[in-house]
Amino acid sequence: MSLFLDAASGKDTERAPIWLMRQAGRHLAEYRALKEKYTFWQLCRTPELAVEVTMQPIRRYGMDAAVMFSDIMTPLESMGVDIDFRPGPVIEDPIRSMAQVEALRVPDVEEIAPYVWDLLGGLGEECPVPVVGFAGAPLTLATYLVQGSGSKDYALFRQFLRSQPEAAHALLDKLTEVTIRYVNKQVDSGASAIQLFDSWAGIHAQDMYESFAAPSVKRVMASLAGRVPRIYLAVGSLHLYPSIAKLPMEVFSADWRMPLSYVRQVMPGRGLQGNLDPSIILAPAEVMEAEAIKVLRSGLGGAHIFNLGHGIMREASPDNVKRLVDLVQGFDRVKAAAEG
Ligand code: CP3
Repeated sequence: MSLFLDAASGKDTERAPIWLMRQAGRHLAEYRALKEKYTFWQLCRTPELAVEVTMQPIRRYGMDAAVMFSDIMTPLESMGVDIDFRPGPVIEDPIRSMAQVEALRVPDVEEIAPYVWDLLGGLGEECPVPVVGFAGAPLTLATYLVQGSGSKDYALFRQFLRSQPEAAHALLDKLTEVTIRYVNKQVDSGASAIQLFDSWAGIHAQDMYESFAAPSVKRVMASLAGRVPRIYLAVGSLHLYPSIAKLPMEVFSADWRMPLSYVRQVMPGRGLQGNLDPSIILAPAEVMEAEAIKVLRSGLGGAHIFNLGHGIMREASPDNVKRLVDLVQGFDRVKAAAEG
Protein backbone atom coordinates (compact mmCIF):
# COMPACT_ATOMS: atom_id res chain seq x y z
CA MET A 1 0.00 0.00 0.00
CA SER A 2 1.00 3.65 -0.23
CA LEU A 3 0.32 6.67 1.92
CA PHE A 4 -2.18 7.95 -0.65
CA LEU A 5 -4.08 4.65 -0.85
CA ASP A 6 -4.08 4.30 2.93
CA ALA A 7 -5.72 7.70 3.32
CA ALA A 8 -8.03 7.12 0.35
CA SER A 9 -9.17 3.90 2.04
CA GLY A 10 -10.10 5.81 5.18
CA LYS A 11 -6.96 5.51 7.30
CA ASP A 12 -6.00 8.42 9.60
CA THR A 13 -2.38 8.53 8.37
CA GLU A 14 0.61 10.10 10.17
CA ARG A 15 1.02 12.64 7.43
CA ALA A 16 -1.45 13.79 4.79
CA PRO A 17 -0.67 12.65 1.24
CA ILE A 18 -0.85 15.49 -1.29
CA TRP A 19 -1.77 15.81 -4.95
CA LEU A 20 -3.38 18.79 -6.68
CA MET A 21 -6.27 18.78 -9.10
CA ARG A 22 -4.97 19.87 -12.52
CA GLN A 23 -1.40 19.46 -11.30
CA ALA A 24 -0.41 18.60 -14.88
CA GLY A 25 -1.03 21.46 -17.26
CA ARG A 26 -0.66 25.08 -17.96
CA HIS A 27 1.03 26.34 -14.78
CA LEU A 28 4.11 24.29 -15.82
CA ALA A 29 6.58 25.69 -18.38
CA GLU A 30 7.41 22.14 -19.49
CA TYR A 31 3.72 21.60 -20.34
CA ARG A 32 3.46 24.92 -22.18
CA ALA A 33 6.53 23.92 -24.21
CA LEU A 34 4.74 20.76 -25.38
CA LYS A 35 1.63 22.82 -26.16
CA GLU A 36 3.67 24.76 -28.72
CA LYS A 37 4.02 21.58 -30.74
CA TYR A 38 0.80 19.72 -30.01
CA THR A 39 -2.84 20.55 -29.40
CA PHE A 40 -4.52 19.54 -26.15
CA TRP A 41 -6.34 16.72 -27.95
CA GLN A 42 -3.09 15.41 -29.44
CA LEU A 43 -1.53 15.33 -25.97
CA CYS A 44 -4.52 13.43 -24.60
CA ARG A 45 -4.65 10.95 -27.45
CA THR A 46 -0.97 10.10 -27.77
CA PRO A 47 -0.22 7.81 -24.84
CA GLU A 48 3.55 8.55 -24.75
CA LEU A 49 2.85 12.29 -24.59
CA ALA A 50 0.09 11.88 -22.02
CA VAL A 51 2.44 9.76 -19.86
CA GLU A 52 5.05 12.52 -20.14
CA VAL A 53 2.57 15.26 -19.13
CA THR A 54 1.24 13.17 -16.23
CA MET A 55 4.80 12.67 -14.98
CA GLN A 56 5.88 16.34 -15.21
CA PRO A 57 4.48 17.45 -11.82
CA ILE A 58 5.55 14.20 -10.16
CA ARG A 59 9.16 14.71 -11.23
CA ARG A 60 9.19 18.38 -10.31
CA TYR A 61 7.36 18.24 -6.97
CA GLY A 62 7.17 14.61 -5.81
CA MET A 63 3.45 14.48 -5.07
CA ASP A 64 2.02 11.36 -3.41
CA ALA A 65 -0.34 10.59 -6.30
CA ALA A 66 -0.48 11.28 -10.03
CA VAL A 67 -3.65 12.07 -11.97
CA MET A 68 -3.82 10.65 -15.47
CA PHE A 69 -3.67 13.35 -18.11
CA SER A 70 -6.96 13.48 -19.94
CA ASP A 71 -10.21 15.43 -19.70
CA ILE A 72 -13.69 14.67 -18.42
CA MET A 73 -14.95 15.16 -22.00
CA THR A 74 -12.74 12.51 -23.67
CA PRO A 75 -15.15 9.52 -23.46
CA LEU A 76 -17.93 11.51 -25.15
CA GLU A 77 -16.29 11.34 -28.55
CA SER A 78 -17.00 7.63 -28.71
CA MET A 79 -20.70 8.45 -28.21
CA GLY A 80 -20.60 10.46 -31.43
CA VAL A 81 -20.09 13.95 -29.99
CA ASP A 82 -17.73 16.45 -31.65
CA ILE A 83 -15.72 18.34 -29.03
CA ASP A 84 -13.25 21.14 -29.46
CA PHE A 85 -11.11 22.78 -26.74
CA ARG A 86 -10.81 26.61 -26.88
CA PRO A 87 -9.39 26.09 -24.18
CA GLY A 88 -12.60 24.94 -22.40
CA PRO A 89 -14.77 22.31 -24.11
CA VAL A 90 -17.06 23.47 -26.92
CA ILE A 91 -19.71 21.14 -28.40
CA GLU A 92 -20.35 21.82 -32.07
CA ASP A 93 -23.90 20.49 -31.99
CA PRO A 94 -25.34 20.83 -28.46
CA ILE A 95 -27.92 18.25 -27.35
CA ARG A 96 -31.31 19.91 -27.02
CA SER A 97 -33.88 17.25 -28.04
CA MET A 98 -34.90 13.64 -27.39
CA ALA A 99 -34.02 12.77 -31.00
CA GLN A 100 -30.44 13.90 -30.40
CA VAL A 101 -30.27 11.90 -27.18
CA GLU A 102 -31.51 8.82 -29.01
CA ALA A 103 -28.83 9.26 -31.67
CA LEU A 104 -26.01 9.07 -29.08
CA ARG A 105 -24.11 5.80 -29.17
CA VAL A 106 -23.40 3.69 -26.09
CA PRO A 107 -20.10 2.16 -27.25
CA ASP A 108 -18.59 -1.15 -26.20
CA VAL A 109 -16.11 -0.62 -23.42
CA GLU A 110 -13.01 -1.27 -25.54
CA GLU A 111 -13.96 1.52 -27.94
CA ILE A 112 -14.53 4.28 -25.37
CA ALA A 113 -10.95 5.65 -25.16
CA PRO A 114 -8.25 3.13 -26.13
CA TYR A 115 -5.54 5.78 -25.64
CA VAL A 116 -6.55 6.04 -21.97
CA TRP A 117 -6.00 2.29 -21.43
CA ASP A 118 -2.54 2.69 -23.03
CA LEU A 119 -1.79 5.79 -20.96
CA LEU A 120 -2.58 3.89 -17.76
CA GLY A 121 -0.51 0.93 -18.92
CA GLY A 122 2.45 3.25 -19.62
CA LEU A 123 2.10 4.90 -16.20
CA GLY A 124 2.09 1.47 -14.60
CA GLU A 125 5.65 1.11 -15.82
CA GLU A 126 6.89 4.65 -15.19
CA CYS A 127 5.01 6.20 -12.32
CA PRO A 128 6.32 5.56 -8.78
CA VAL A 129 3.10 6.71 -7.06
CA PRO A 130 -0.55 5.59 -7.39
CA VAL A 131 -2.45 6.96 -10.38
CA VAL A 132 -5.86 8.54 -9.94
CA GLY A 133 -8.22 7.81 -12.82
CA PHE A 134 -11.30 9.96 -13.25
CA ALA A 135 -14.49 10.74 -15.09
CA GLY A 136 -16.99 13.56 -15.18
CA ALA A 137 -20.13 12.86 -13.18
CA PRO A 138 -23.05 12.36 -15.59
CA LEU A 139 -24.79 15.61 -14.64
CA THR A 140 -21.63 17.66 -15.19
CA LEU A 141 -21.07 15.99 -18.59
CA ALA A 142 -24.70 16.72 -19.49
CA THR A 143 -24.14 20.35 -18.48
CA TYR A 144 -21.58 20.81 -21.26
CA LEU A 145 -23.47 18.65 -23.79
CA VAL A 146 -26.65 20.70 -23.47
CA GLN A 147 -25.24 24.17 -22.81
CA GLY A 148 -22.60 23.68 -25.51
CA SER A 149 -19.74 25.33 -23.63
CA GLY A 150 -18.78 26.77 -20.27
CA SER A 151 -21.15 29.43 -18.95
CA LYS A 152 -21.59 31.70 -15.95
CA ASP A 153 -24.85 30.18 -14.70
CA TYR A 154 -25.77 27.39 -17.17
CA ALA A 155 -29.28 28.86 -17.39
CA LEU A 156 -30.02 27.02 -20.63
CA PHE A 157 -29.11 23.68 -19.09
CA ARG A 158 -31.12 24.32 -15.93
CA GLN A 159 -34.08 25.30 -18.09
CA PHE A 160 -33.65 22.09 -20.15
CA LEU A 161 -33.88 19.91 -17.01
CA ARG A 162 -37.20 21.55 -16.13
CA SER A 163 -38.74 21.68 -19.59
CA GLN A 164 -37.54 18.35 -21.02
CA PRO A 165 -37.11 16.08 -17.99
CA GLU A 166 -37.60 12.90 -20.04
CA ALA A 167 -34.87 13.77 -22.50
CA ALA A 168 -32.65 14.79 -19.57
CA HIS A 169 -33.17 11.45 -17.83
CA ALA A 170 -32.55 9.54 -21.06
CA LEU A 171 -29.32 11.51 -21.58
CA LEU A 172 -28.19 10.86 -17.99
CA ASP A 173 -28.94 7.14 -18.36
CA LYS A 174 -26.70 6.88 -21.41
CA LEU A 175 -23.92 8.92 -19.79
CA THR A 176 -24.15 6.81 -16.65
CA GLU A 177 -23.82 3.57 -18.60
CA VAL A 178 -20.80 4.83 -20.54
CA THR A 179 -19.19 6.22 -17.36
CA ILE A 180 -19.60 2.89 -15.54
CA ARG A 181 -17.85 1.09 -18.40
CA TYR A 182 -15.20 3.80 -18.67
CA VAL A 183 -14.13 3.96 -15.01
CA ASN A 184 -14.14 0.19 -14.53
CA LYS A 185 -11.92 -0.20 -17.57
CA GLN A 186 -9.58 2.43 -16.09
CA VAL A 187 -9.28 0.24 -13.00
CA ASP A 188 -8.61 -2.83 -15.19
CA SER A 189 -5.89 -0.77 -16.91
CA GLY A 190 -4.13 0.25 -13.70
CA ALA A 191 -5.88 3.23 -12.05
CA SER A 192 -5.53 2.92 -8.24
CA ALA A 193 -8.43 5.20 -7.34
CA ILE A 194 -11.24 6.91 -9.22
CA GLN A 195 -12.40 10.48 -8.78
CA LEU A 196 -15.77 11.55 -10.11
CA PHE A 197 -15.79 15.27 -10.94
CA ASP A 198 -19.20 16.89 -10.40
CA SER A 199 -17.85 20.37 -11.05
CA TRP A 200 -21.25 21.95 -11.66
CA ALA A 201 -23.41 20.05 -9.17
CA GLY A 202 -23.63 23.15 -6.99
CA ILE A 203 -25.69 25.19 -9.47
CA HIS A 204 -28.78 23.05 -8.85
CA ALA A 205 -31.46 23.20 -6.18
CA GLN A 206 -31.39 20.30 -3.75
CA ASP A 207 -34.51 18.60 -5.16
CA MET A 208 -33.05 18.83 -8.69
CA TYR A 209 -29.79 17.30 -7.46
CA GLU A 210 -31.77 14.47 -5.86
CA SER A 211 -33.62 13.70 -9.10
CA PHE A 212 -30.95 14.36 -11.71
CA ALA A 213 -27.56 13.83 -10.08
CA ALA A 214 -27.68 11.57 -7.04
CA PRO A 215 -29.07 8.43 -8.79
CA SER A 216 -26.35 8.45 -11.48
CA VAL A 217 -23.53 9.18 -9.01
CA LYS A 218 -24.83 6.31 -6.90
CA ARG A 219 -24.83 3.90 -9.83
CA VAL A 220 -21.32 4.81 -10.94
CA MET A 221 -19.94 4.59 -7.40
CA ALA A 222 -21.75 1.29 -6.71
CA SER A 223 -20.16 -0.21 -9.83
CA LEU A 224 -16.72 0.41 -8.29
CA ALA A 225 -17.51 -0.85 -4.79
CA GLY A 226 -14.69 -2.97 -3.37
CA ARG A 227 -12.47 -2.36 -6.40
CA VAL A 228 -10.64 0.94 -5.64
CA PRO A 229 -11.19 3.96 -3.38
CA ARG A 230 -13.87 6.26 -4.76
CA ILE A 231 -13.52 10.06 -4.53
CA TYR A 232 -16.35 12.50 -5.27
CA LEU A 233 -15.84 16.21 -5.97
CA ALA A 234 -18.82 18.56 -5.98
CA VAL A 235 -17.96 22.25 -6.10
CA GLY A 236 -20.18 24.82 -4.36
CA SER A 237 -22.29 22.05 -2.90
CA LEU A 238 -22.77 22.97 0.77
CA HIS A 239 -26.55 22.93 0.31
CA LEU A 240 -26.25 19.39 -1.10
CA TYR A 241 -24.26 17.86 1.77
CA PRO A 242 -27.31 16.09 3.27
CA SER A 243 -27.84 14.35 -0.10
CA ILE A 244 -24.13 13.68 -0.70
CA ALA A 245 -23.76 12.19 2.78
CA LYS A 246 -26.03 9.32 1.66
CA LEU A 247 -24.02 8.43 -1.45
CA PRO A 248 -21.48 5.59 -1.51
CA MET A 249 -17.83 6.76 -1.58
CA GLU A 250 -14.66 6.52 0.49
CA VAL A 251 -13.60 10.16 0.12
CA PHE A 252 -15.43 13.44 -0.35
CA SER A 253 -13.41 16.22 -1.99
CA ALA A 254 -14.53 19.50 -0.45
CA ASP A 255 -14.18 22.97 -1.93
CA TRP A 256 -12.70 25.82 0.11
CA ARG A 257 -15.93 27.39 1.35
CA MET A 258 -16.10 25.72 4.77
CA PRO A 259 -13.31 24.24 6.90
CA LEU A 260 -12.73 20.48 6.77
CA SER A 261 -13.61 20.20 10.48
CA TYR A 262 -17.14 21.32 9.57
CA VAL A 263 -17.35 18.96 6.58
CA ARG A 264 -16.27 16.09 8.82
CA GLN A 265 -19.14 16.76 11.20
CA VAL A 266 -21.69 16.74 8.40
CA MET A 267 -20.20 13.70 6.65
CA PRO A 268 -18.90 11.52 9.46
CA GLY A 269 -16.99 8.33 8.76
CA ARG A 270 -15.60 9.51 5.45
CA GLY A 271 -12.16 10.39 4.22
CA LEU A 272 -11.83 14.03 3.22
CA GLN A 273 -9.83 15.56 0.41
CA GLY A 274 -9.10 19.26 0.05
CA ASN A 275 -9.47 22.11 0.46
CA LEU A 276 -7.04 25.00 0.05
CA ASP A 277 -8.51 27.88 -1.94
CA PRO A 278 -6.69 27.65 -5.32
CA SER A 279 -6.26 31.44 -5.39
CA ILE A 280 -4.04 31.27 -2.29
CA ILE A 281 -1.23 29.73 -4.35
CA LEU A 282 -1.06 33.11 -6.08
CA ALA A 283 -0.46 34.89 -2.74
CA PRO A 284 2.96 35.49 -1.12
CA ALA A 285 4.51 32.23 0.12
CA GLU A 286 4.08 33.04 3.83
CA VAL A 287 0.36 33.75 3.37
CA MET A 288 -0.06 30.49 1.46
CA GLU A 289 1.84 28.50 4.08
CA ALA A 290 -0.22 29.88 6.95
CA GLU A 291 -3.43 28.95 5.12
CA ALA A 292 -2.12 25.48 4.28
CA ILE A 293 -1.40 24.85 7.96
CA LYS A 294 -4.96 25.88 8.80
CA VAL A 295 -6.23 23.31 6.29
CA LEU A 296 -3.92 20.62 7.71
CA ARG A 297 -5.11 21.31 11.27
CA SER A 298 -8.71 21.36 10.21
CA GLY A 299 -8.25 17.98 8.54
CA LEU A 300 -7.10 16.24 11.73
CA GLY A 301 -9.31 13.61 13.33
CA GLY A 302 -9.78 11.30 10.33
CA ALA A 303 -8.41 10.44 6.91
CA HIS A 304 -7.20 13.50 4.99
CA ILE A 305 -5.75 13.81 1.48
CA PHE A 306 -4.40 17.33 1.03
CA ASN A 307 -5.55 18.98 -2.20
CA LEU A 308 -7.02 22.25 -3.43
CA GLY A 309 -10.70 23.06 -3.23
CA HIS A 310 -10.74 23.03 -7.07
CA GLY A 311 -8.18 22.91 -9.88
CA ILE A 312 -4.86 24.72 -9.75
CA MET A 313 -4.84 28.02 -11.63
CA ARG A 314 -2.63 28.55 -14.63
CA GLU A 315 -1.04 31.59 -12.92
CA ALA A 316 0.18 29.46 -9.98
CA SER A 317 3.90 29.84 -9.38
CA PRO A 318 5.82 26.56 -9.41
CA ASP A 319 7.96 27.86 -6.52
CA ASN A 320 4.88 28.19 -4.34
CA VAL A 321 3.60 24.77 -5.41
CA LYS A 322 6.96 23.25 -4.44
CA ARG A 323 6.82 24.95 -1.04
CA LEU A 324 3.27 23.72 -0.54
CA VAL A 325 4.17 20.10 -1.31
CA ASP A 326 7.19 20.25 1.01
CA LEU A 327 5.18 21.82 3.80
CA VAL A 328 2.39 19.24 3.63
CA GLN A 329 4.85 16.34 3.42
CA GLY A 330 6.68 17.66 6.48
CA PHE A 331 3.58 18.15 8.62
CA ASP A 332 3.37 15.58 11.41
CA ARG A 333 -0.33 14.94 12.04
CA VAL A 334 0.27 12.82 15.14
CA LYS A 335 2.25 15.59 16.80
CA ALA A 336 -0.24 18.26 15.71
CA ALA A 337 -3.13 16.22 17.10
CA ALA A 338 -1.32 15.78 20.43
CA GLU A 339 -0.74 19.54 20.64
CA GLY A 340 -4.48 20.01 20.14
O1 CP3 B 1 -3.69 17.33 -13.98
C1 CP3 B 1 -4.89 16.95 -13.99
O2 CP3 B 1 -5.69 17.20 -13.07
C2 CP3 B 1 -5.34 16.06 -15.12
C3 CP3 B 1 -5.95 16.67 -16.20
C4 CP3 B 1 -7.36 17.21 -16.24
C5 CP3 B 1 -7.72 18.12 -17.25
N1 CP3 B 1 -9.05 18.34 -17.17
C6 CP3 B 1 -6.76 18.66 -18.25
C7 CP3 B 1 -7.13 19.88 -18.98
C8 CP3 B 1 -8.51 16.94 -15.48
C9 CP3 B 1 -8.66 16.07 -14.25
C10 CP3 B 1 -9.58 17.65 -16.09
C11 CP3 B 1 -10.96 17.58 -15.61
C12 CP3 B 1 -11.92 18.56 -16.11
N2 CP3 B 1 -12.06 19.07 -17.37
C13 CP3 B 1 -12.98 19.08 -15.32
C14 CP3 B 1 -13.26 18.73 -13.91
C15 CP3 B 1 -12.39 19.46 -13.00
C16 CP3 B 1 -12.80 20.87 -12.75
O3 CP3 B 1 -11.94 21.73 -12.96
O4 CP3 B 1 -13.92 21.09 -12.32
C17 CP3 B 1 -13.71 19.97 -16.14
C18 CP3 B 1 -14.93 20.77 -15.72
C19 CP3 B 1 -13.13 19.93 -17.43
C20 CP3 B 1 -13.59 20.65 -18.64
C21 CP3 B 1 -12.50 21.52 -19.14
N3 CP3 B 1 -11.45 21.08 -19.90
C22 CP3 B 1 -12.35 22.92 -18.95
C23 CP3 B 1 -13.29 23.80 -18.16
C24 CP3 B 1 -11.16 23.29 -19.62
C25 CP3 B 1 -10.57 24.67 -19.72
C26 CP3 B 1 -9.69 24.73 -18.53
C27 CP3 B 1 -9.07 26.04 -18.29
O5 CP3 B 1 -8.34 26.05 -17.29
O6 CP3 B 1 -9.23 27.01 -19.04
C28 CP3 B 1 -10.60 22.12 -20.19
C29 CP3 B 1 -9.35 22.02 -20.96
C30 CP3 B 1 -8.23 21.38 -20.20
N4 CP3 B 1 -8.34 20.21 -19.53
C31 CP3 B 1 -6.90 21.86 -20.11
C32 CP3 B 1 -6.19 20.91 -19.35
C33 CP3 B 1 -4.73 20.92 -19.01
C34 CP3 B 1 -6.34 23.13 -20.74
C35 CP3 B 1 -6.04 22.81 -22.16
C36 CP3 B 1 -4.86 23.59 -22.66
O7 CP3 B 1 -3.74 23.23 -22.32
O8 CP3 B 1 -5.09 24.54 -23.42
